[in-house]
Amino acid sequence: MDYDLLVIGAGPGGYHAAIRATQLGLKVACAEMEYLGGVCLNVGCIPTKALLHAGEEIRQSKHAADFGLTFSETKLDIAKLNGWKNGIVKKLTGGIGTLFKANKVAHLIGKAVFVDANTVMVGDLKVTAKNIMIATGSEPSSLPTFPVDQKRIVDSTGALNVPNPLPKRMLCIGGGVIGLEFANVYNNMGVEVVVIEFAPQILGIADDDAVKEYTKIMLKQGIKLELGTKANGFTDQADEGMLVELEVVSSGAKRHEAFDFVLCAVGRRPRSAGLNLEAAGLKADERGFIAVNAQMQTAVPHIYAIGDVVGNPMLAHKAMKEGLVAAEVVAGHKAAMDVVAIPNVIYTNPELAWVGLSEKEAKAKGFKVKTGLFPLSASGRAMTLGVSDGFVKMVANAETDLLLGVHVVAPHGSDILGEASLALEMAATVSDIALTIHAHPTLTESIFEAAESVHKQAIHIMNR
Ligand code: FAD
Ligand code: NAI
Repeated sequence: MDYDLLVIGAGPGGYHAAIRATQLGLKVACAEMEYLGGVCLNVGCIPTKALLHAGEEIRQSKHAADFGLTFSETKLDIAKLNGWKNGIVKKLTGGIGTLFKANKVAHLIGKAVFVDANTVMVGDLKVTAKNIMIATGSEPSSLPTFPVDQKRIVDSTGALNVPNPLPKRMLCIGGGVIGLEFANVYNNMGVEVVVIEFAPQILGIADDDAVKEYTKIMLKQGIKLELGTKANGFTDQADEGMLVELEVVSSGAKRHEAFDFVLCAVGRRPRSAGLNLEAAGLKADERGFIAVNAQMQTAVPHIYAIGDVVGNPMLAHKAMKEGLVAAEVVAGHKAAMDVVAIPNVIYTNPELAWVGLSEKEAKAKGFKVKTGLFPLSASGRAMTLGVSDGFVKMVANAETDLLLGVHVVAPHGSDILGEASLALEMAATVSDIALTIHAHPTLTESIFEAAESVHKQAIHIMNR
């Protein structure tokens, strides 16, 4: 065999797996057909966060007058913004190439297609490996009524290339993570944004209180949210705009609205077609996902699969962890994907971030639940940042005091979540958090106050 392990796909899952496997002494190759770093580094996590940061700076510049700072009108240089964002991507993806060289991962360029369970064609190169790992990720789902041209009708990749001039009126089809993050970006740049969501609520899997608070803030920032609504199609108008037919799902009531920019963000599908899985004795399910066990092994035990291609949640940090687990299993270690909780973050401002169970989920699982909530309006640190909306909510087991979930609506909510994720993994009680000294003044104090509030002894609020 040419290699101990061939990883297919150099996204966050694949490159983590390849590097860990060489650290453990294996001879490894990684085949990549498009770009090192996968969706995450090239057209996902990283460039969206760059644009979100830029948008947030624009918003902040407008609010600085509240504390006596005024600027002349904020001017957006779109070419420079796109260039800055692309520069970050280039630096990071170049870094993966350097890491591959330093760790002696052979980088094979080309599309990988199975020949049999130990042989893969990578472009014209025939490669054999004792173990193979499928880390081929996912791609945007599409709507036949809104064919993506990456100009007027875009998916997330097209939306990353901010058009010059900016559109006037944008429709985001889908009020999920992508729809909301881009709505935030473009709204902050001055574009009128309407988000339509098929379901009666955005972010159905998040905690209800958190979604309510988050929705209130998005509306306050000027984003229009139309729930229980779908878009049926559009007709072109003489001025190049699109007249979109919107339908209220419950009543069937239809109306027409004009937009000059449409983002389709209706979910993502696994990228498993085209691998010729059958030749390796494998089959994806009807949605294209590849089934795996806790060791990330497929039905053919020396073929592993990780990341978006194995199922939800489609998150980079989940892919990374699965990559590390699978590499360790290949190297003969006792490892398993056995995590208590996977954190979720929507990187708007404020961020909606959560880890563990929502109040509703905890109750549905039969826990006797107690909760605590600390509003940022009572946080000194939040006040110094000009923030009064948002909160930290804690869900706990009323019988054992064990932490079950933490839900944050706050600037830098993802940073607050780090402590909560560790606490859940280590089976912390609410008292463990309340007994820990948190630096003052910080936003992380809010998690301490939320813990105190679970016990009805928070100092800075009236305990409910
Ligand atoms: P991918 O990153 O999809 O990488 C798969 C790689 O495999 C690709 O490079 C592809 O070219 C390659 N490949 C596919 N088929 C073959 C083949 N046959 N041969 C060779 N190579 C192949 N997640 C977060 O956790 N945080 C975020 O903030 C976040 N933001 C996002 C923003 C956007 C706009 C999008 C679209 C996604 C975002 N995600 C985010 C999700 C995240 O990008 C994915 O969960 C993550 O990239 C999945 O990693 P992966 O390794 O499974 O696959
Ligand atoms: P999503 O599944 O999060 O949301 C899609 C939304 O579109 C759903 O709420 C769905 O009800 C709605 N929808 C579907 N069809 C519709 C229609 N015809 N009309 C109106 N609404 C419709 O998918 P999204 O936003 O495309 O993101 C895909 C994945 O990418 C996410 O699930 C997440 O895993 C990942 N991602 C993660 C990010 C993060 O961690 N911050 C950022 C961006 C993406």
